[in-house]
Amino acid sequence: MSLVTAANAAYLVAALLFIMSLAGLSKHETARRGLSFGIAGMALALLATVALVIDHQPATIGIVLMVVAVLIGATLGLLRARRVQMTEMPELIALLHSFVGLAAVLVGWNGYLEPELHGELTGSLLDIHHAEVFIGVFIGAITFTGSIVAYLKLSGKMKSAPLVLPGKNLINLAILVAFIALTTAFVISPALWMLALVTVLALALGWHLVASIGGGDMPVVVSMLNSYSGWAAAATGFLLGNDLLIVTGALVGSSGAYLSYIMCKAMNRSFFSVILGGFGIEAASGEGKDHGEHSEIDVAGAAEMLAGASKVIIAPGYGMAVAQAQYPVADLTRTLRERGVDVRFAVHPVAGRLPGHMNVLLAEAKVPYDIVFELDEINDDFSDTDVVLVIGANDTVNPDAAEDPGSPIAGMPVLHVWEAADVIVFKRSMAAGYAGVQNPLFFRDNTQMLFGDAKDRVDDILGALKEQPVGAGR
Ligand code: TAP
Repeated sequence: MSLVTAANAAYLVAALLFIMSLAGLSKHETARRGLSFGIAGMALALLATVALVIDHQPATIGIVLMVVAVLIGATLGLLRARRVQMTEMPELIALLHSFVGLAAVLVGWNGYLEPELHGELTGSLLDIHHAEVFIGVFIGAITFTGSIVAYLKLSGKMKSAPLVLPGKNLINLAILVAFIALTTAFVISPALWMLALVTVLALALGWHLVASIGGGDMPVVVSMLNSYSGWAAAATGFLLGNDLLIVTGALVGSSGAYLSYIMCKAMNRSFFSVILGGFGIEAASGEGKDHGEHSEIDVAGAAEMLAGASKVIIAPGYGMAVAQAQYPVADLTRTLRERGVDVRFAVHPVAGRLPGHMNVLLAEAKVPYDIVFELDEINDDFSDTDVVLVIGANDTVNPDAAEDPGSPIAGMPVLHVWEAADVIVFKRSMAAGYAGVQNPLFFRDNTQMLFGDAKDRVDDILGALKEQPVGAGR
């Protein structure tokens, strides 16, 4: 068997491993196995590619440069991945997407400047090659700047409020029309200025699309950029004639698009307006509204309330991740269940900062999967619940989303925690959530605030519960 045949066979196996990886990642129970398939597929793909390059160009300086680049990249990636906090994952992912976009732009430019590297191309094959260059650069440049803006917004280095330029939709449309016209012209007569112009236009479009989207809608943007990075990789695959890159890019592109669609449904947003960077700009209202006074509870009071409850639901959010409170929360769950309390978790689809964030944290702390419920599964049960513990959640439990059509997060489905008999909110202050809107839940009669770091407060409650007799329930 020749090396090329062996490498193609390895590519096929790697593609299958990637598909198995995606299938595995779709369920908690199989996610770890899914991840292993992905790692194995990527290792195999890298080995096969390096072997092919060495076979193709033995003993050139290019090989040395490639190995050095791989080593530097792998070392930086390992160091960064080891240090990253779970709460910083979305911004890291956004940054990594920007690298895929940049790679697609560079490969595209290389394809234009050195077409001979891509084989003997004449006639319609050369036209197709030019179209690939143009489309690859366009998608790559949008992904590059869009991901950088997402990184800046997610890391708090840029304001999360939407940029609203006059005629913003027209600007986007004009760039799209210019792209189509330039692609046609480039295929007919490929000129350097056209490629330079489309690069600049796409960089501006990527920046504008993501800058126009408001804080509360960022989750959909992250998965949309994930999808764009997949299409950018697929475009690169066409240019380099690498089948595995095409398959992998298409897998990432389509699964990211589907994830964006599911998230749009979960957030009650239009899929097309996300793609066009058009939502998140509704006139904000509700700020400055007088919500009245809030009430507070202390640790002893919270422990007493829990000891007397028979049904408890915990709604975790970003603050639980920041505080790393999932471990004491899991201990509290065990303690309450041992005391005969029915404890369940209500997980909002965009709680935290990345899809499945809460599920990952709860699984890490060994909370049993069968007491963790999605919004749709548990939202009707709050009215039949004694106590809800809102642990570091804010936007995802904001009643204004359901009740105030003028709210910037109006229409986003939220956990109806306020329907329970009592609600205890764990947070450090009265500050707004990620979307920057105040939460009237905190001022309701049946809500009491328990201020402080969520981990410390849950630890304190665990201690105080020992003083409480096993309750008879309500
Ligand atoms: P958020 O609205 O982000 O609010 C988190 C709350 O946690 C804050 O109000 C903060 O209040 C509190 N907090 C922070 N550190 C804490 C600590 N150490 N101890 C106790 N409380 C702490 O939370 P959420 O309900 O999870 O909503 C998620 C938001 O992020 C949504 O707007 C969503 O659209 C957005 N988003 C989500 C994603 C994904 S995919 N999940 C991605 C990007 C953006 P204090 O400062 O007063 O403590």
